[in-house]
Amino acid sequence: MSVSEKRTFLKIYLFQPGLRIWHWVQFLCIVVLFVTGLYIGDPFFTGSGSGEPTVVYPHILSMDLVRTIHFSAGYVLLVAFLYRIFLFFTKKAHRALMAPKHLWMLKDVILTYVFIKKSYPPVIRNPLARLAYIFIFALIVFQIWTGFAMYGMSNPNGATATVVSQWTLALFGNEFTLHVWHRIVAWLFFLFLIFHVYLVFYNAFLFKEGELASMASGNRWVPLHRIPVDAEDALECKIEDVLGDAGCDRRG
Ligand code: HEM
Repeated sequence: MSVSEKRTFLKIYLFQPGLRIWHWVQFLCIVVLFVTGLYIGDPFFTGSGSGEPTVVYPHILSMDLVRTIHFSAGYVLLVAFLYRIFLFFTKKAHRALMAPKHLWMLKDVILTYVFIKKSYPPVIRNPLARLAYIFIFALIVFQIWTGFAMYGMSNPNGATATVVSQWTLALFGNEFTLHVWHRIVAWLFFLFLIFHVYLVFYNAFLFKEGELASMASGNRWVPLHRIPVDAEDALECKIEDVLGDAGCDRRG
């Protein structure tokens, strides 16, 4: 981008380092949990006739190792999730809640993503993304809950079993049903990932406002003639202050 072009853009600093690190830690955890989880459900690599998967220690993908990785990633996911709750209170841009006032644009966003409309009004976070994040957080809570409920059953008299597993098992009816739901929701993460990556790239290439790079740099670039309608939901000050160089959230 040339210097003259750059002047027509406003740099908005949205994501603090903690949020960016959390995003990538969570991404890694989910990938590891998904892959190891599928293996736990169907230990295909151990082959047939090589013995009970749990005891095939010489195999690099012994069930013991894969389960340990799964549970460790589960603990990291839990800590990352608690940290994300803390981040929620630190900055407006870290909230991105869905409010009824954002709904009016939902149709335009969907029509744009399926190439029927050319674009939707400029926003920092579109209503579809806002809805998707509520959905993904609900899925994370569900997986942590059901995951720890199953995990607790390895010691049915232990603290985890008492605090989480017993009532969860009663709710789901039996352990098998709990496994089935944990597995179904795992596939929802996979679907989310496909849409999420597609939409991030779509935005990055179509609008060229730094959507893709923002989870690395923390910045979004908005053209001065397309000030986001939700800018003040995400900024700590009034948009006029940002435009007037008053300093709030303006970097570089
Ligand atoms: C995004 C998050 C997660 C995904 C995608 C995921 C995925 C999976 C999948 C696909 C299975 C196999 C289910 C089956 O067929 O029985 C599984 C099993 C399991 N997961 Fe997760 N999981 C996640 C989070 C967690 C968490 C946070 C924990 C907590 C420690 C956990 C603990 C377990 C346990 C205990 C099992 C059963 C292991 C066994 O039967 O040996 N999971 N997971």
